[in-house]
Amino acid sequence: MIQGGNRLYGEITISGAKNAALPILCASLLTETPLNLSSVAALKDIDTTIKLLDIMGVKITRNADKVSLDASDVTSFEATYEMVKTMRASILVLGPLLARFGTARVSLPGGCAIGSRPVDLHIKGLQAMGAAIHITHGYIQASTLHLPNRRLQGARYYMDLVTVTGTENLMMAASLAQGTTILENAAKEPEVVDLADCLIKMGAKIRGAGTDVITVEGVERLSGTDHNIVCDRIEAGTYMVAAAMTGGEVKLLNVQAHLLDAVIEKLRDAGAIVTVDTETITVKGDGQLKAVNIRTAPHPAFPTDMQAQFMALNTVASGVSKVTETIFENRFMHVQEMQRLGADISIDGNTALVKGVEFLDGATVMATDLRASASLVLAGLVARGETVIERIYHLDRGYENLEAKLNALGANVKRLS
Ligand code: EPZ
Repeated sequence: MIQGGNRLYGEITISGAKNAALPILCASLLTETPLNLSSVAALKDIDTTIKLLDIMGVKITRNADKVSLDASDVTSFEATYEMVKTMRASILVLGPLLARFGTARVSLPGGCAIGSRPVDLHIKGLQAMGAAIHITHGYIQASTLHLPNRRLQGARYYMDLVTVTGTENLMMAASLAQGTTILENAAKEPEVVDLADCLIKMGAKIRGAGTDVITVEGVERLSGTDHNIVCDRIEAGTYMVAAAMTGGEVKLLNVQAHLLDAVIEKLRDAGAIVTVDTETITVKGDGQLKAVNIRTAPHPAFPTDMQAQFMALNTVASGVSKVTETIFENRFMHVQEMQRLGADISIDGNTALVKGVEFLDGATVMATDLRASASLVLAGLVARGETVIERIYHLDRGYENLEAKLNALGANVKRLS
């Protein structure tokens, strides 16, 4: 429950990136010596991944943001439907299992609220590396036992869509393959780069992470290492929008501004004052923002994971704006909920037309997916009166201690159950 109208002031520390921690946790499967991680955020999706790895036999100790993983005795090479249906990123065990053990049985992720989100490019990439893959009874059954030394073979593979977890799965698989793999049209997201940095410390030979061609020279084995997870640029962006919308002044700590160029640019276009330092970003809003056009695309363009948050900003900014979603086919489910708050939005295909209104009025709304629920929190912070958001388990998947962080900045947010 949110009482709207409070400006946000103060400092907030950004947590480690969910979307870097998920693949890096799965990278523990690639070696029999311990992988020690820090800045692992306390998020539901992280709990789910740790549970999945634990079931597979990985010995895991966790203390605050520190997680140590020992995959010296993996007993199961399977990710069941029960696990995968709660979190599609479980697909990230497929590459590592195949690379190290030559066998994997991973449930196909079902549909997802924001789109069909197939994993065909993950599968085609592994097949290009020689894996035998059959889809039976909703499971991906994969094996390399027919290959020389039972090892994946290096290959050149062009991904005809930019896929973040696809790039990550194939990069992990290639790191232990026989020979060299070249991934073309690779995703350039900072979380891909962070995974590559960790794999390189584990002994992988990877060049080009962060560009659209990644070259991986397979090695015989990898070893554990220590790695600090990169900051969560989407969590940071979400709080930056909150500061701009409420007309306050918030300083974010433990954040790297160069990961957020497109978001910072758009906030400045909207009239917020954004100042950056090596590890901090400060956002100052005067409460009256200008509407900004948004078009999502792969990094370094404007991130799809910030689309809903900027839609919230546009609902109360002055002017008309267009928000175009090019990555997922159904990532506008926050629109109907915002209309309940009084927003003026019309949808035409993958573009939403937003006309700024004077005020939003608090109401009861429903969260549908992670970033949509974050955008409803933002709308509730500025809406007149009380907003109640239902199904906030979506929020807990990607935002650590959201209400504590917001209340520390002067918001009035209560968790009802
Ligand atoms: C990652 O999802 C993120 N999740 C998503 O963040 C993010 O929205 C997305 O990348 C885009 O940036 C994690 O990293 C765990 P994709 P991912 O593969 O990898 C299509 C959040 O809010 N596609 O880059 O699943 C796909 O349908 C989450 O934290 C295929 O067609 O996304 C989509 O339209 C939500 N076939 C597009 O590509 C494939 O084999 C991009 O998807 C793979 C993808």
